[in-house]
Amino acid sequence: MKRIAVLVSGGGTNLQALIDAQKSGLITNGEIVSVISSNPDAFALKRAADNNIKTTVLNRNDYSSNREYSKALTKELKEDNIDLIVLAGFMTILTEDFINEFENKIINIHPALIPSFCGEGFYGLHVHEKALDYGVKVSGATVHFVNEECDGGPIILQKAVEILPEDTAESLQKRIMEECEWKLLPQAVNLFCNDKLEVIGRKVNIK
Ligand code: GRF
Repeated sequence: MKRIAVLVSGGGTNLQALIDAQKSGLITNGEIVSVISSNPDAFALKRAADNNIKTTVLNRNDYSSNREYSKALTKELKEDNIDLIVLAGFMTILTEDFINEFENKIINIHPALIPSFCGEGFYGLHVHEKALDYGVKVSGATVHFVNEECDGGPIILQKAVEILPEDTAESLQKRIMEECEWKLLPQAVNLFCNDKLEVIGRKVNIK
């Protein structure tokens, strides 16, 4: 059984999708044992507590640098013998040391089709505003392994939705969450937990 930690900073709808998938048996061979938030007011903490999952707040404001913060996070994750770290709306940049420590064990969900509309500054509604401003006809979500480049790690799964003429950033965000993110993230976690993901250079082979 793989021990999963989910790192959050906000509402936690992706965390909820993982909890629901675990309960309904869509995730096998894995258990969410820890939810860590960089924000003490994150609603995601309530979702975890309501489901009897251990919660920890590591407030970024209590640490002088990303380095110190990443060290504290590493300690917490090691103590809990975590096998898989899921970034689900986690708003703090992690250091290279952290990423190396947990190589190919950290996955992130991004609300666009990487390599479009990603990287520094592309978070929240901005992602969808940029996609609409550019005039793309499809957007979607990507689950990827985390490496030292922001949103640049090997891609595990992607799913697209069509952009509708009447879309706003809000409507697009909602559709991408409902139709892509909440489905892809549990699928990717399940594949990881069942040792179905093989990383070869930039590519992820699904066995
Ligand atoms: C999601 O759109 C996710 O793709 C991005 O941050 C958002 C988090 O939303 N990385 P939630 O906290 O899971 O509701």
